[in-house]
Amino acid sequence: MGMQVTTTIDHELCIGCGRCIKVCPQDTISLIEGKAVVTGRMSLNCGHCQAICPTGAARVGALDPETHSFKTFTMTPGFVPFGGGATPELVSLMASRRSTRNYMDTPVPMDVLHDLVKVGCLAPSGTNCQLWKFGIIPDREGMLKIARLTMDFFSRTNRLAANPLVRLFVPQLREYHRLYAQAVEESIREFKAGGRESLFHGAPAAITISSKPGASCPAEDALLASQNILLAAHSMGYGTCLIGMLVEAVRHDRAIRDALRVLPGERLHSVIVVGVPNEDWKRPCGRMKPEIFNV
Ligand SMILES: Cc1cc2nc3c(=O)[nH]c(=O)nc-3n(C[C@H](O)[C@H](O)[C@H](O)COP(=O)(O)O)c2cc1C
Ligand code: SF4
Repeated sequence: MGMQVTTTIDHELCIGCGRCIKVCPQDTISLIEGKAVVTGRMSLNCGHCQAICPTGAARVGALDPETHSFKTFTMTPGFVPFGGGATPELVSLMASRRSTRNYMDTPVPMDVLHDLVKVGCLAPSGTNCQLWKFGIIPDREGMLKIARLTMDFFSRTNRLAANPLVRLFVPQLREYHRLYAQAVEESIREFKAGGRESLFHGAPAAITISSKPGASCPAEDALLASQNILLAAHSMGYGTCLIGMLVEAVRHDRAIRDALRVLPGERLHSVIVVGVPNEDWKRPCGRMKPEIFNV
């Protein structure tokens, strides 16, 4: 879709209030003889005009009319006004979400995974490009296939990092060897002996977020979508965990990229495992004190 203009104004409905012009970030609309008129040649297709028009005259064709239709729950209709009062529940949800590292075998319904993707898409994106792609690993079999490939990658990395000469010349491997190699080695050994699978923590499903070429802030877009997914999943009864280990492996290993269907020119930014948690949190416990300074 790019920057193509898909905005239309119903001239019968337009009362010429100018609200759409004030909020449009791209000067797509002008006021001519008391009516809004689409005059710009570019649009972010952000829908601000549609969101603010009091009469429903402004429409953005590029927007998916099904955006707010979910299979597993009904979104509360209407706009939450500024100061709408949901702060205590929202912050409590943020404080209660934890990275879940123990899961039940229960499969995650496909509808839940699709709804989570749609919730992810409600996140902001740089220039509203939405150049993200969502991959779904729907079952344990798929998870194990990726887990095995990733473990093969880390086995090779461990062998490389074990060589002091390699460590001398490759600083990343020096750090990897110091911080992670031993724990990774033990996890791989345990898994191969039929024990715990600790890459995905035994989760039955995952959502991957990658970007297509051309996005201005692809990593930020993907991580904002990720946070939406993490919070929504918690509220829907599912635990989640981001798997940065796999994101790192994908940067170096073609076979995993292919298995995850990351195409040439695309980049993987986020992997979120999802499942029914086998954990029983009792309370939110807080964070370390942040450093805050005046500028
Ligand atoms: C970018 C990123 C990558 C992460 N990668 C992993 C991972 O590979 N494996 C894992 O078990 N947890 C991973 N985590 C989870 C963090 O360890 C976790 O968010 C942190 O310890 C705080 O705990 P909480 O999420 O329960 O609040 C990752 C988190 C982030 C933000
Ligand atoms: S916000 Fe709606 S009614 Fe107001 S000028 Fe724009 S299209 Fe017309």
